[in-house]
Amino acid sequence: MTAEYQVHGDVAVITLNNPPVNGLGYATRKAIVAGLNRAEDDAAVQAIVLTGAGAAFSGGADIKEFGTPQAMQQPNLPAVIAALEQVRKPVIAAIHSVCMGGGLELALGCHYRVVAPGCSVALPEVKLGLLPGAGGTQRLPRVLGVETALNMIVSGEAVKSEMLAALPGQKHFDKLAASPEALLDEAMAFAREVAAKHQAGAPLPLVRSLPCKHPQGDGYFGFARNMVRGMAKNFPAPLKCVDAVEAATQGKFEDGLRREGELFAQLMLTPESRALRHLFLAERAASKIPDVPADTPKRTIATVAVIGAGTMGGGITMNFLNVGIPVKLLEAKQEALDRGVATIRKNYEAQIKKGKLTQDKYEQRMALLSTTLAYADIANADLVIEAVFEDMGVKEAVFQQLDAVMKPGAILATNTSTLDVNKIAAVTKRPQDVVGMHFFSPANVMKLLEVVRGEKTAKDVLATVMALAKKIKKVAVVAGVCDGFIGNRMIEQYSRQAGFLLDEGCTPAQVDKAIEKFGFAMGPFRMGDLAGNDIGWAIRKRRYVEKPHMKYSKTADLLCEMGRFGQKTGAGWYDYQPGKRDAIPSPVVEKMLEEHRKSLGITPRKISDEEIVQRLVFALVNEGAHILEDGIASRASDIDLVYLMGYGFPLHRGGPMLYADEVGLFNVVQAMRRFAKNPYDDAAFWQPAPLLARLADEGKTFN
Ligand code: 3HC
Ligand code: NAI
Repeated sequence: MTAEYQVHGDVAVITLNNPPVNGLGYATRKAIVAGLNRAEDDAAVQAIVLTGAGAAFSGGADIKEFGTPQAMQQPNLPAVIAALEQVRKPVIAAIHSVCMGGGLELALGCHYRVVAPGCSVALPEVKLGLLPGAGGTQRLPRVLGVETALNMIVSGEAVKSEMLAALPGQKHFDKLAASPEALLDEAMAFAREVAAKHQAGAPLPLVRSLPCKHPQGDGYFGFARNMVRGMAKNFPAPLKCVDAVEAATQGKFEDGLRREGELFAQLMLTPESRALRHLFLAERAASKIPDVPADTPKRTIATVAVIGAGTMGGGITMNFLNVGIPVKLLEAKQEALDRGVATIRKNYEAQIKKGKLTQDKYEQRMALLSTTLAYADIANADLVIEAVFEDMGVKEAVFQQLDAVMKPGAILATNTSTLDVNKIAAVTKRPQDVVGMHFFSPANVMKLLEVVRGEKTAKDVLATVMALAKKIKKVAVVAGVCDGFIGNRMIEQYSRQAGFLLDEGCTPAQVDKAIEKFGFAMGPFRMGDLAGNDIGWAIRKRRYVEKPHMKYSKTADLLCEMGRFGQKTGAGWYDYQPGKRDAIPSPVVEKMLEEHRKSLGITPRKISDEEIVQRLVFALVNEGAHILEDGIASRASDIDLVYLMGYGFPLHRGGPMLYADEVGLFNVVQAMRRFAKNPYDDAAFWQPAPLLARLADEGKTFN
């Protein structure tokens, strides 16, 4: 059973017990109804308390059950709530902790609610591309008022129980207990009180019977729709939340409930909801490393050292200062150190200006920062992260010094974006302590962290770094060692396709527009201009030596030969006016492209947006499939997470691998076969990765 049943004198207590968060899966739902029936049948029981064991009252419907036959099995959640409402003895929800989604809907189906302070209360379904589907949109407005309820439903944000309990006129909570520890006793005492009143003839209150009106409904819901439309962008759920709450104010409770059910069912089938549910599960799956058990002991990380105070080193440092971990920043030269610290200050000051940081906190954070030019000063750090130039010689020299000075057991991490972590580890006598921590720029902002597992990286080092990532609020994904790890290895194929598209007749603006319409935050050429086209140039120069067989468009090299490195030089794929970031199509680039096509004997053709998107995205997919096959990523959802968190892949599409699943792998492979026939593309690349070909053949998916 996933709910326990106990009788304490005249009060029955049903305790949800389905770890980790008492998700309301089939077995739990069944157990709740069984408990209610038992309590009703027991003449000695006068009242029923419904509560949760462990970390939550309930985190809501069991997300892992969505899309499985159990999700459809009766009793579904609305049926459980209907059963609750029909019990002839008072049912009291006793909420000691997280109360979300279906969990909150369950509580709203009870006759009374007693809550402890500090509980997180939310209807977060919108974050999964859904709306509350078990009466939440109908009952919450009845206990909190339409506007407060709609705000909670549309934002999905959690509110503390004591704040809700303090709202004037609220009917959400009948009693605020003194503490979580006192909750059950207080709830049982309350149950006895209301049972006595009920026996004396008082009716059992139901939330559904409360009135639900907005005095200026038309105006208010019109205004709410306008606000929500602006924020919802590619997601249908927020507007449907407004529809459902409006329905609560317009007619009978049952009609509103029916409308909510219809909207919920529609949203459940949308690709946007599948994408968000995929993201939720992907984030949690990524923290699990198949051969590193969850209980692997972790090393203590109380102090950190960062080597290199450049673009990355400064941002990396801020992550630790932000959570109270002292950092010692080491540089080769005092000027570089001063510049790095000044940038950190500037970043914090910008946050103060925007009202995101207080002066006090800023000073507390800066007090945790110290600087040095001497390796001896960082010897006692628990973790050191190297962020010096991307040059194997320089990195090897740094790691030799670290090996010489760092205390035993210190973790030695590199932020390299392309170099071989095994080679770096091999210059030390402690390769088991070496790991890659690949942050993304700006490192204090971007959520993604690729944790690069070297051949010899110890399991406790991995476990420690993954836990630390959570502490600094990063989404960490483990990658094996290869050139570019997961993200950059894939982006190279995407960039190559972008180049071939120019060769064949596209303009940079056409490519950018097509992929931005698909949902990417920025197309490849605007992105190149922002990051600096010289970075890719340096990588290609290396590639021409390492992989001479690899085909590239020459357009990006021609651009760099003209000194058009992007925004920083005032010109790149686009022209820029001084001090402005607006990308203006460039006649110089147009001419360069025309001449280049002529030199290749290519007659430019009109390329559809659909082809542009397919070639760019399927290039990611094919390389992603190779990465999975090579064991560089443990699961397809890890790849999706990297692209959603680090590369601006549109959230509503759920990442390249889920997008390919949605398109159908058979169709993806068919498209690749067509692309392979294009004489100006790279036929070898478009051979579907064996894993992709096999899954397509078997009618399966990546995820
Ligand atoms: N169903 C199943 N599992 C859930 C779950 C849920 N609703 N919510 C969380 N979990 C699982 C996670 O997958 C994770 O499992 P794992 O240990 O195997 O990886 C575990 O609980 C812990 O989750 P977190 O790592 O997120 O733990 P936190 O302590 O940081 O957060 C939480 C706990 C606040 C409950 C957070 O997990 C959360 O926000 N969960 C989502 C809640 C939600 O969206 N509920 C609505 C569901 S849809 C619904 O109810 C439909 C209804 O209206 C009909
Ligand atoms: P950067 O050039 O801005 O900074 C490098 C810093 O290292 C400079 O301040 C330099 O003075 C210092 N340095 C060089 N040699 C040193 C030494 N021996 N000892 C101490 N300090 C030394 O470079 P950036 O962009 O910060 O890159 C650093 C690393 O991060 C590289 O490995 C890069 O590939 C990686 N990276 C860069 C990203 C980016 O977008 N810039 C993204 C992810 C990783």
